[in-house]
Amino acid sequence: MDPRRNPYAPGAGSRPPELAGRDSIIESAAIALDRIRNGLNAQSVILYGLRGVGKTVLLNKIRLDCEDRGFISVSIEAPEAKSLPAILIPALRSALLKLSRLHVAKHWLKIASDHLNGFTRALKIKYNDIEVAFDPKIGLGLADSGDLDYDLTELIKSIGRAALESKTAFVFFIDELQYVEEGQLASLIAALHSANQNQLPITMVAAGLPQILGKMGKAKSYAERLFKFVPVDKLETDAAKSALIIPAKKENINFDAEAIDEILKETQRYPYFLQEWGKHSWDLAVGSSITSADAKQATKLAISELDASFFRVRFDRLTPKEKDYVYAMAELGAGSHRSGDVAEKLGKGVSAVAVVRNSLILKGMVYSPAHGDTAFTVPLFDGFLKRTLSVPVNEIDAI
Ligand SMILES: Nc1ncnc2c1ncn2[C@@H]1O[C@H](COP(=O)(O)OP(=O)(O)OP(=O)(O)O)[C@@H](O)[C@H]1O
Ligand SMILES: [Mg+2]
Repeated sequence: MDPRRNPYAPGAGSRPPELAGRDSIIESAAIALDRIRNGLNAQSVILYGLRGVGKTVLLNKIRLDCEDRGFISVSIEAPEAKSLPAILIPALRSALLKLSRLHVAKHWLKIASDHLNGFTRALKIKYNDIEVAFDPKIGLGLADSGDLDYDLTELIKSIGRAALESKTAFVFFIDELQYVEEGQLASLIAALHSANQNQLPITMVAAGLPQILGKMGKAKSYAERLFKFVPVDKLETDAAKSALIIPAKKENINFDAEAIDEILKETQRYPYFLQEWGKHSWDLAVGSSITSADAKQATKLAISELDASFFRVRFDRLTPKEKDYVYAMAELGAGSHRSGDVAEKLGKGVSAVAVVRNSLILKGMVYSPAHGDTAFTVPLFDGFLKRTLSVPVNEIDAI
């Protein structure tokens, strides 16, 4: 079929042609945000799930919807090795600029921007990755103690007051939250908690890998009361079918039932894979329907493409010891595994391989679904490893 008309959208954060099966998450996030804007009690949402389930897409959808309803928002992606102040400062600056365009909250806006200046000045010394400039004369004594907990609370509260005065609410959207260092995450939660207790219309909606559950609980035990942790999983069967069928139907193209069965089986209904299979099936089909032969051929193409890119780039980020660990997991089969079993497979003690497991968790490659268990954050990663198992690691590096 004409690739120019191919509607499918595989890719990180690419808006799918049909955002299937997520209406209830979108609605509950909107209700929580509207309540917070109105000074009512609500838990903002934290979306968590494996790679490629559609967290970023959902975060973007929730953000665009709330902007349509008059909220002020900023969107941040936490990179792996940057401090929270370094990513927050430019975002909060842009928030204050957006609030200033409303031309209402003059008083609190001035205070909030002085706080931000003080905050930047004090933390620039402590964190050496803050690139934003500050005025040395403005905001002396405001949010500039150098203590992140205290300063961030002051700053968040003053921005909350500016939002309240502007009769709006301010929401920051943080993606890849698992990469925020635990102590800094604790400061952020404490600041939002304080704003929440003061009924200020400021909150966070975030997304990340499943490790954020444990990380946030460890950072602050009350995180669970402040936020609603919403799992984002593979799609239900009907939603997965809609994700494939509806975009094609809009172009007067149908899927044969066997083609749908093949794609649902191979992708296990993971959204990113559905887009990949949809794209390949479309490109392969001739005429006005996508057949089971097209879907089977799409499986071959999609897998070889994923092996060369999606899975491969993640594998390449691992050290030799980490590679041994993930291979041991793959050899044990799909699903999660007891850390003891992985260690045994490697012929080592649990404590001897604990460091490797921890670094894999920090890199976002694996997580712990239950105490002592380990699973991949990338769906179907075990399949990739098994396909490459017969090839020694040094030869894989050369592929
Ligand atoms: N509800 C959905 N229906 C159909 N396709 C979807 C849906 N959600 C996401 N997708 C598709 O899945 C792919 C991955 O989405 P997204 O980047 O949001 O996942 P993610 O969970 O943020 O992944 P990562 O953890 O790697 O950042 C995109 O190609 C997107 O179009
Ligand atoms: Mg994402």
